[in-house]
Amino acid sequence: MTAPARPLDPPGVPYALRRRLALAGALFLVALPLGVFWAEVGGLSHYFSAQYPPGQGAYIMMRAAGHLAFVLLFLQLVLGSNVRAIARWVGRPSLLRLHRALGGTTLAVALLHPILFLWARTLRSGLFEPLKVILPPPGDYYHNRLLLGAVCLYLLMAAIAAAIYGPRLLPRVWRRVHLLNYAAFFGLWLHAFSIGSETRHPVLVVLYGAMVVLVIAFGLRRLLGAIR
Ligand code: HEM
Repeated sequence: MTAPARPLDPPGVPYALRRRLALAGALFLVALPLGVFWAEVGGLSHYFSAQYPPGQGAYIMMRAAGHLAFVLLFLQLVLGSNVRAIARWVGRPSLLRLHRALGGTTLAVALLHPILFLWARTLRSGLFEPLKVILPPPGDYYHNRLLLGAVCLYLLMAAIAAAIYGPRLLPRVWRRVHLLNYAAFFGLWLHAFSIGSETRHPVLVVLYGAMVVLVIAFGLRRLLGAIR
C-alpha cells in the first residue's frame, strides 16, 4: 500500500514550521501559569516537610492541577471551534484525534484537581469526607464557589459524554450538549478568580482575561455562522 501523498507546502511559511509554531504557542500557554505558580510557591518539596501542616503539599499540587486543567480546557475550546481552519493551516487532513485526546487529558487533569483537594483535606483534618468535595454544601461565599467548580466539572463530563455517546444516543442534540464546555469554561474562570491564590497575580489576570475574551469571540462567531 502506498503512503498518502503529503500536501504541497503553501507559499510563505511551510507546514512543518506552522506545526512547530502551533505547538510552541500551546506549550507557552501551558507554561506561563505554571511558571507563575512555581515563582509564587517557590518549589514543592518543602511543603511536604514537617515545617508545614499535613496536606499542604497536596493542596499546593491541587492548585497547579487547577491551572493546567483550565489552560487545557481553553486550548480544547480554541481547537474545537476552529478545528477545520487549524487543520488546513497546519496541513493536516483532520485534527479530530488530537481534539479527542486533548478532551480526555483535560478531563483527567480536571478530575485530579478535586482529588488532590480531597487528599489535602483528609490529611489536614483526619476525616475522609468525599461528599463535601464531590458536592460541596452551599452556604457562604467560599463554599458557593467550590460548588460552582463542582457543577462546572459535571458540565465538562456531560459535554465529553455527549461527544462520545451522543452521535449514537442523541443524534439531534449532542452538539448542543457538547457546547456545555463553554458554560463550564466561564464558570471555572469565576471559580478560579474568586477563591484562587495565583489568580490574583497580574500576569494571570491578563492571561486568563484574554482567554475569556477569545473564547467569547470564537463562540459568537460560531453562533453567527449557525444563524446565517
Ligand atoms: C469538585 C470540583 C472542584 C473543587 C472542589 C475545587 C476546589 C478548588 C479550591 C479549594 C481552590 C482554591 C485553591 C487556592 O487556595 O488557591 C480552587 C481553585 C482553582 N480551581 Fe478548582 N475546584 C474544582 C473544580 C475545578 C475545575 C474542574 C477546574 C478546571 C478545569 C478548576 C480550576 C481551578 C483553578 C484554575 C483555580 C485557581 C488556583 C489558584 O489560583 O491557586 N477547579 N479550586
